[in-house]
Amino acid sequence: MNVRITGTGSALPGKILTNAELERLVDTSDEWITTRTGIKERRIAIEGEYTSTFAAEAGRRAMAMAGVNPEEIDLIILGTVTPDFPFPSTACIVQDILGATNATAFDLSAACSGFLYGMSIAEKYICSGAARKVLVIGAEVLSRIVDWQDRNTCVLFGDGAGAVVLEGSEGGHSILSTHTFTNGAFWNLLYQPGCGSRNPATDSRTIDERLTFIKMEGNDVFKHAVRAMEEAALTALDTNGLLPSDISLLIPHQANRRIIDATAKRLGLGTDRVFTNLHRYGNTSSASIPISLDEAHRQGVLTSGDKLLLVAFGGGFTYASALVNW
Ligand code: COA
Repeated sequence: MNVRITGTGSALPGKILTNAELERLVDTSDEWITTRTGIKERRIAIEGEYTSTFAAEAGRRAMAMAGVNPEEIDLIILGTVTPDFPFPSTACIVQDILGATNATAFDLSAACSGFLYGMSIAEKYICSGAARKVLVIGAEVLSRIVDWQDRNTCVLFGDGAGAVVLEGSEGGHSILSTHTFTNGAFWNLLYQPGCGSRNPATDSRTIDERLTFIKMEGNDVFKHAVRAMEEAALTALDTNGLLPSDISLLIPHQANRRIIDATAKRLGLGTDRVFTNLHRYGNTSSASIPISLDEAHRQGVLTSGDKLLLVAFGGGFTYASALVNW
């Protein structure tokens, strides 16, 4: 059984926050942000917009492309670290919005690797016969857990969602492999300390010490990210007996231009074979790869038979890869 991507979709907030506007919020500059990260602007959810808003819209667009009705979806997996609520799963809310009444739905917390972890699980559901049509979504409203007083982190992140429909098929383009990895030894280098059972939102200390916001050791994260993304990419290539020269397009998690460049360089891939859009969206965590895949597809960048290498890295640490024969 092959697992095919039959539809892609994405949804982003209309509101744009530029580097120039950030200069008025914290002690930073467009020049610093551009040279250190490659980011020029990011999308920010406005009042009344939630993770489920963008997740459902991305999912609706992916289903429309696939020609699949909501009732045909057997499973919804939603990668997110910014759910609408601690519970129920935002995937349940998305199931309701879409009318995907026959789908089992759950959230998956794997930070920026959430979408590829979700693809890996979906592939196994389909191959085992437990599901036929699966909606995998990565969606975030990170702007609600970003500390807008912390210049080390607030310049990096943005909001949005991307989705794919996966279906079983006897032929056609297919997912050749998925690999997921975890290194829990470094969980505290990138995390949100507050609002869980250790530092409850009900404890005034959680608010006073700004524990509800993302904390990150940027330098350390950077080094781990480059090494991990290379390992995930090489595992995908080795498994399929492919060389970097066989890859038509690398679609990496959009965290930082320098991480992407270093990963591509280690793999020997030129920039013409690397998809980037982080200059427009920043780091949208689990949403970044499906947004990129959808944009590449709708821009006509992808040709049948292309070998796509998707690679992610995120808090946990989690990292993952997928090799797709488009
Ligand atoms: N504007 C201006 N100066 C800033 C700044 C900002 N937005 N953020 C940090 N600085 C300052 C620091 O305070 C520091 O100043 P100091 O030397 O006076 O202390 C200086 O810039 C250098 O900081 P440093 O952290 O060494 O910079 P860097 O080159 O490592 O770049 C990151 C910082 C965050 C861009 C980089 O470490 C990074 O991208 N890390 C990975 C982050 C990431 O992608 N996380 C998600 C993974 S999924």
